[in-house]
Amino acid sequence: MLKKIETLSAEMLAELKKATSEAEVKEVEIKYLGRKGAFNDIMKALSSLSDEEKRTVGKEANITKGKLEGAVNKRIEELETEKLGKIADEEWMDMTVSGIKPERGHRHLISSFIEDLERIFAKMGFAYVDGKEIEEEHYNFNQLNIPDDHPARDMQDTFWLKDLPGKLLRTHTSANQIHHMEKNDPPTRIISMGKVYRKDSDATHSPMFHQVEGLMVGEHISMANLKATLTHMLRQVFEDDSIKVRFRVSYFPFVEPGLEVDCTSPRGGWLEIGGAGMVHPNVLENVGYDPNKYTGFAFGMGIDRMIMIKHGIKDLRLFFENDLRFIEQF
Ligand code: DAH
Repeated sequence: MLKKIETLSAEMLAELKKATSEAEVKEVEIKYLGRKGAFNDIMKALSSLSDEEKRTVGKEANITKGKLEGAVNKRIEELETEKLGKIADEEWMDMTVSGIKPERGHRHLISSFIEDLERIFAKMGFAYVDGKEIEEEHYNFNQLNIPDDHPARDMQDTFWLKDLPGKLLRTHTSANQIHHMEKNDPPTRIISMGKVYRKDSDATHSPMFHQVEGLMVGEHISMANLKATLTHMLRQVFEDDSIKVRFRVSYFPFVEPGLEVDCTSPRGGWLEIGGAGMVHPNVLENVGYDPNKYTGFAFGMGIDRMIMIKHGIKDLRLFFENDLRFIEQF
């Protein structure tokens, strides 16, 4: 019997060693130490032994069982440690390697250009005023001396708002001049920037684009002031002190005379960049300014266009596709 206990114990220890998971260890435990296990068979067989033998064999069987239970727990612990060791090997990290910098993004080209313009004009004493993208017909057209039959009012050119009669997506930033003059007395110097909308779409026209609007009204304001202001602004924008500005006669209902503004291109030749003129007396009257006392200039330029010129960008749509390969270059 003692011999049998020794053999079983050796067998069980060998099997425990071979077990590679906790489940397997448990199986071995049941096989030997379970209710129907090999050790119980020995216990049952004790009844056929003498008292003396019962005592020695029983004692030995119990001691061995205790040891084997210990071996079971030890094997489970071993397997757990092995498992953790394996995980540590597989999922190992070098804590000394510097991390991957998270993408933080940066200002869009247009936003940073707008900030630059705001700074350039602030230095010349122009305050920044904001406007609304949904504008009233009255401000977008009437107050600006734009006649009822002007083509800009046409459904083909303007996004009228179906459920808001008399409201539209502003076609230019010029309405902001009116809002400002209605609330402020002359002299005044402001710029305004933002999105404007027209039914237009190709490589150089987008239904939404950006304008910068400027207005200066006071006593003795002349076209010379306009030219000096625009020349300084463009030299700053294109970072080139040799930039020249020229005016061509044109027509905008809210100015008289009206002008197209061209500037020398950083890449040679002349480029049209916007409209300007001396504020029309009717407009001054509309906002309650005395046209006999005050004069002023106004201008409106395409921001997107200036950026395209500055960076040699051929397709306006690139600005709004938000392709990181484009955006990250600036
Ligand atoms: N609002 C005009 C446009 O969008 C641009 C413009 C022309 C603005 C002459 C002005 C100006 O202030 O004086 O085409």
